[in-house]
Amino acid sequence: MQTGTSLGWIGAGRMGYAMAERLAKGGCDIAVWNRTREKALPLEKSGAKVVNQLEELSTKDILFVMVSTYDDVREVLGKALASGAKRGKPKMVVECSSISLEGSAELRQMLKGKGIEYLAAPVSGNAKVIKAGKLTFVVSGPKPAYEKAKPYLDMMGAGSSYVGEGELARIAKICHNVMLGVVIQNLCEITVLAQKAGMPRHAFLDFLNKSVMGSMFTRYKTPALVNLDFHVTFTPKLLRKDLDLGLDAGREFEVPMPLTSLTRDLLQQMIGHGMTEEDFSTLLLMQAKASGIELKPENVPVSDGLSS
Ligand SMILES: NC(=O)c1ccc[n+]([C@@H]2O[C@H](COP(=O)([O-])OP(=O)(O)OC[C@H]3O[C@@H](n4cnc5c(N)ncnc54)[C@H](OP(=O)(O)O)[C@@H]3O)[C@@H](O)[C@H]2O)c1
Repeated sequence: MQTGTSLGWIGAGRMGYAMAERLAKGGCDIAVWNRTREKALPLEKSGAKVVNQLEELSTKDILFVMVSTYDDVREVLGKALASGAKRGKPKMVVECSSISLEGSAELRQMLKGKGIEYLAAPVSGNAKVIKAGKLTFVVSGPKPAYEKAKPYLDMMGAGSSYVGEGELARIAKICHNVMLGVVIQNLCEITVLAQKAGMPRHAFLDFLNKSVMGSMFTRYKTPALVNLDFHVTFTPKLLRKDLDLGLDAGREFEVPMPLTSLTRDLLQQMIGHGMTEEDFSTLLLMQAKASGIELKPENVPVSDGLSS
């Protein structure tokens, strides 16, 4: 890792906070801005500096962005890089939010015009996954820029995969989150089926998690499905955004995506019922309702496969 590299961080939400915290704890020179400043303040305990103005990040060597949608990315970067801010410009922007191909390409064009290197670097994992050191990145853009950013990406988790030039990382991330949506819906269907047939959810999921079909994902969703702990990791609306991005990409590249379409509609039904504030795995409750049963927490200690 290059010493003396200054890092700027925009966005201390569920993901951004945990990611910036790892860099701060790792000893990086990092300054953080969040729209709601109070949410970022505890990062100072880990060694980060929390700034008041976005413009204060404009001279950092590498500027990371982790907000919600492309509109938000455009808004924050627009302010951070405002030409009126005569402070200078970052050498590189690493954009980690889950945004569209088109948004990412527009951003690349804008940054190119300003002579700033740009990496598209969306992630896989939730805040708990980050804490467990298992976050992963998929990255695209110029290879030399990737080599410079790689040590910092490595510090935030289990490493990164470089997939090529341009916006290819966006497509990889969209594919990944389409799988997230389809898999959680299916996991909810089979968990409710198993329960309605007579077995406890924890017993069924114990079997599934030990089998070849078990995964880090099925394991870390198990506490939610067994004990109905729907503390939000990822909101239904953010998942809907990603399924929509997947369907848009399917249309663009003329790839039929029937499972994605169906899952998007099931998620929309849940959002239509006002179930927007808890975790996306509340799809389990929708599935139970559609199956004529009411679920109760099993109150059984189950591992999420992440905590040591
Ligand atoms: N959660 C997950 O499991 C997960 C996993 C992989 C990828 N992602 C992606 O990561 C991104 C962040 O997700 P998250 O779960 O961390 O979301 P979140 O907790 O809702 O945080 C969103 C962050 O963006 C900021 N923000 C939103 N709109 C803004 C605007 N117009 N101006 C300035 N700041 C703005 C928020 O600031 P405030 O604090 O002021 O609201 C907050 O810091 C999303 O693109 C999501 O799809 C999430």
